[in-house]
Amino acid sequence: MKYRKLGSSDLNVSEISLGSWLTFGVGVARDRAVACVDRAFALGINFIDTANVYGRGAAESFLGEVLAGRKRDSYVLATKVFFPMSATDKGLSRAQILKQMDASLQRLKVDHVDLYQCHRYDPETPLEETMRALSDVVRQGKARYIGFSEWSPQQIEAAFAIAGVERFVSSQPQYSLLWRRPEEKVIPLCRAQHVSQIVWSPLAQGVLTGKYLPDAPPPADSRATSDSMGGFIQRLTGRDTLEAVQKLKPLAKDAGCSLTQFALAWVLREPNVASAIVGASRPEQLDENAAASGLTIDPALFAKAEAIVAGVS
Ligand SMILES: NC(=O)c1ccc[n+]([C@@H]2O[C@H](COP(=O)([O-])OP(=O)(O)OC[C@H]3O[C@@H](n4cnc5c(N)ncnc54)[C@H](OP(=O)(O)O)[C@@H]3O)[C@@H](O)[C@H]2O)c1
Repeated sequence: MKYRKLGSSDLNVSEISLGSWLTFGVGVARDRAVACVDRAFALGINFIDTANVYGRGAAESFLGEVLAGRKRDSYVLATKVFFPMSATDKGLSRAQILKQMDASLQRLKVDHVDLYQCHRYDPETPLEETMRALSDVVRQGKARYIGFSEWSPQQIEAAFAIAGVERFVSSQPQYSLLWRRPEEKVIPLCRAQHVSQIVWSPLAQGVLTGKYLPDAPPPADSRATSDSMGGFIQRLTGRDTLEAVQKLKPLAKDAGCSLTQFALAWVLREPNVASAIVGASRPEQLDENAAASGLTIDPALFAKAEAIVAGVS
């Protein structure tokens, strides 16, 4: 496993990291989820991403239990705040940030997280209030660094224009061969501000593994067939998309790796990406995914892949 520096922080994160959306505490059985975390550590994955809203606290509680036996400095822990935890608990007001930070720390059974991220921008709270509250959380030692997820370039620039507050070190956008929008503005802006990308759904929720075939029902025991986890994958399983993904398989073969590894290596070819956050429903997936770290792939193969998916992404 190779590691990359996270923006202007002193954190080094594994190129492949482990996420917990839909899976931990929700859709993946506990014994399998425990096995995934154990395998992640064995593979050198040191970066774990969660959010207060995943399973309304269930993902954090699960991680709190399984991480409890591990040395706190053996992993980099990130969580997030913004989405509703109840009818009244939501957003990025000062009161919410302070309250949700403490609730996350309690569930995670730690005295600090390494990265506290705004899950989205909150148009109902003045940005300065949010930035000052995040800065206080850092000064209290409850979070080491701060980040954002899916903020617009204007919102990012506005945050950097505020004096006397902590600076963001990370951006968490959706980014994959099937979703390249961050390349237009967010990545150039972040590069200039020493902010790294830690990208979500780098495998397009599993579609970029090539396991969803255009002319066959989705494999049993996959996200697309799961009642609890399949609610967000439909956008990615249209016929055009699945056909284009199958056309990528020969390119991966030429590169000497699986399509899954090709897709992850494509994300990691961008130096502004510090880590690709993968989900996993079983530990074997992490064996395959972790081996994408450090792969060197001919850029000409990547260019061919980009041309194949251009019409569908
Ligand atoms: N900031 C945000 O708004 C936001 C939004 C979404 C996610 N995230 C973060 O990003 C993380 C990753 O998102 P994601 O789960 O959508 O990522 P993903 O890596 O694109 O998809 C993960 C899913 O693909 C399947 N898969 C993974 N590796 C595989 C392999 N080698 N072979 C076959 N199938 C494989 C598994 O599902 P099955 O086995 O069930 O098919 C797995 O749960 C989340 O856990 C979360 O931490 C953040």
